[in-house]
Amino acid sequence: MTLPMTLIAHMTDLHLRPRGLACYRVSDTNMFAERAIRSLKALSSRPDALVITGDLTDRSDPREYAVAREMLSRVDMPVYVIPGNHDGSADMRRELHDYPGISESRDGKIFYKVDIGDVQLIALDTHLPGKPEGELGPEQLSWLDATLRDCAKPALVALHHPPALSGIAHMDRIGLIDAAALAEVIAPFNHVERLLCGHLHRPIIAGFAGKIMTLSPSTGHQVVLDLTENSPAQFNFEPAAYFLHYHSQNTGVVSHMSYVENFPGPHDFFADQGVVWPGDEP
Ligand SMILES: [Fe+2]
Ligand SMILES: [Fe+2]
Repeated sequence: MTLPMTLIAHMTDLHLRPRGLACYRVSDTNMFAERAIRSLKALSSRPDALVITGDLTDRSDPREYAVAREMLSRVDMPVYVIPGNHDGSADMRRELHDYPGISESRDGKIFYKVDIGDVQLIALDTHLPGKPEGELGPEQLSWLDATLRDCAKPALVALHHPPALSGIAHMDRIGLIDAAALAEVIAPFNHVERLLCGHLHRPIIAGFAGKIMTLSPSTGHQVVLDLTENSPAQFNFEPAAYFLHYHSQNTGVVSHMSYVENFPGPHDFFADQGVVWPGDEP
């Protein structure tokens, strides 16, 4: 008998552009996102859902949402999106109004909860119009508090701006303004299993308010790992990846990072049985 399991893919920071245009002139983010979607579809286990934690578009341009809609229509699983600083809450609501979660969320910020298998996804909106920083605000925080009181299922809380600092100075300056207020809300709830974030364009795992924050790399360009005080804002093309959050009763929530690129293999570990290695002679 196979035990029930839940698998949630978490991608972020696609920075889609109108067809034919690159991001920052050199990052072909549409092509990179296509590659990520192809890799997701080729997984041996099909995820139950895909969560995209913001910066879906680069400039919140309707043509970029149209690219997103077309691309995501080829993902054969429910897709949940929230805005990042590069998107706009109102634009996303208008352009993707029929998306699950968005269609049920109230006016203003886009926040919603949804049951996916044995876990609950709680999607939050940190977009601040015209600003690179993020903020949840008191209304959303009190809704989060009520939602966490209401349901004790393992919870994945998704938000674009990471509440924990990274040590990458130029990114930490544009983080989550009300991180301390978020910490106060989530700290008492043991069933908050993960905070799923983006924005930093790097694979980062950090503790926050006694919880585990997993930050997924971008599907496109990555932020240069520079932990010096005056790190310049620069990007490169380190490997793109996304997270797969697996849950079963035996394991709890386990987070695997999955690369977009293909690598050599697989090879069997015991293919050389019977071969005597130098030094191992009887
Ligand atoms: Fe981004
Ligand atoms: Fe961002």
